[in-house]
Amino acid sequence: MGAGAKVAVITGAGTGIGRATALRLAGRGFAVALCGRRPAPLLAVRRLVEEQGGRALALPTDVRERAQVEAMVDQVLGSLGRLDVLVNNAGVARALPVLETGEDLWDDQIATNLKGVYLCCRSAVAVMAKARGGVIVNISSVLGRTGVANHAAYCASKFGVIGLTQALAEEVAPHGIRVYAVCPGATDTDLHRGIVGDELARLGMPPQTVAETIVGVVTGETVLPTGASLVIDQSVDLVGPAGRMKRLRQRVRGWLAAHRPRGGC
Ligand SMILES: NC(=O)c1ccc[n+]([C@@H]2O[C@H](COP(=O)([O-])OP(=O)(O)OC[C@H]3O[C@@H](n4cnc5c(N)ncnc54)[C@H](OP(=O)(O)O)[C@@H]3O)[C@@H](O)[C@H]2O)c1
Repeated sequence: MGAGAKVAVITGAGTGIGRATALRLAGRGFAVALCGRRPAPLLAVRRLVEEQGGRALALPTDVRERAQVEAMVDQVLGSLGRLDVLVNNAGVARALPVLETGEDLWDDQIATNLKGVYLCCRSAVAVMAKARGGVIVNISSVLGRTGVANHAAYCASKFGVIGLTQALAEEVAPHGIRVYAVCPGATDTDLHRGIVGDELARLGMPPQTVAETIVGVVTGETVLPTGASLVIDQSVDLVGPAGRMKRLRQRVRGWLAAHRPRGGC
């Protein structure tokens, strides 16, 4: 990889969609900065990237903490010299009725899924504006476009990501910075398994499918106006004709009812 390789920061890069995105971006020649709270998964992804001949930094970072986010961006600039792409992917999800959603749980989902995106965007935009260009992809959700019972905090955070994306896109367009949201449907990751269980989670998309979509947006191979939100949801393809889709929905509803208050993300 050349010294002038573009640099991508990916949050939540140790697992799931973030891991798959980091590996694909590295495969496309990006130097990748891997962020998340736990060092071990980040180090494992860094090793894989290096085995492929790529360059990666593992930067344990809690996106809820401004000082950690600022220090992370400083480290990226110090070690890799530039910052071209930010993928705001870190996220948490808990499914609970509002009456059972305590303030701590509400605050944690908003702090991670929405404030974390704001903090990372703010630090990255300062750098990208000086360089007169950059791309930011914020990972929202299909639940950032449609509210679903038992997901009030998660939906609020993911709707917020789309609003933040649109507002920021308009604001930073004069600096040559493009901002997008990607809204996945059910994807087979730890986060989704934690809500619906292993059996139903396996019906979701592989994280690599979402990663391909994110990479297409980052590289411009998928052409979108800045500020746009792109849905990637494979559930219809998974179950085929509409009748089978309906039966699957019924099965899922039955399972959800039996395991109240679980739901999709
Ligand atoms: N799976 C789905 O069905 C689905 C659907 C729509 C949208 N999404 C969104 O996709 C994104 C990725 O989720 P995933 O499905 O790939 O689940 P995942 O494998 O659980 O990934 C979430 C990642 O976020 C990191 N993270 C959580 N809190 C963090 C914090 N405070 N600071 C830094 N990193 C943090 C986690 O690492 P640490 O715990 O080590 O910090 C983890 O690597 C999330 O934003 C999620 O809401 C997922």
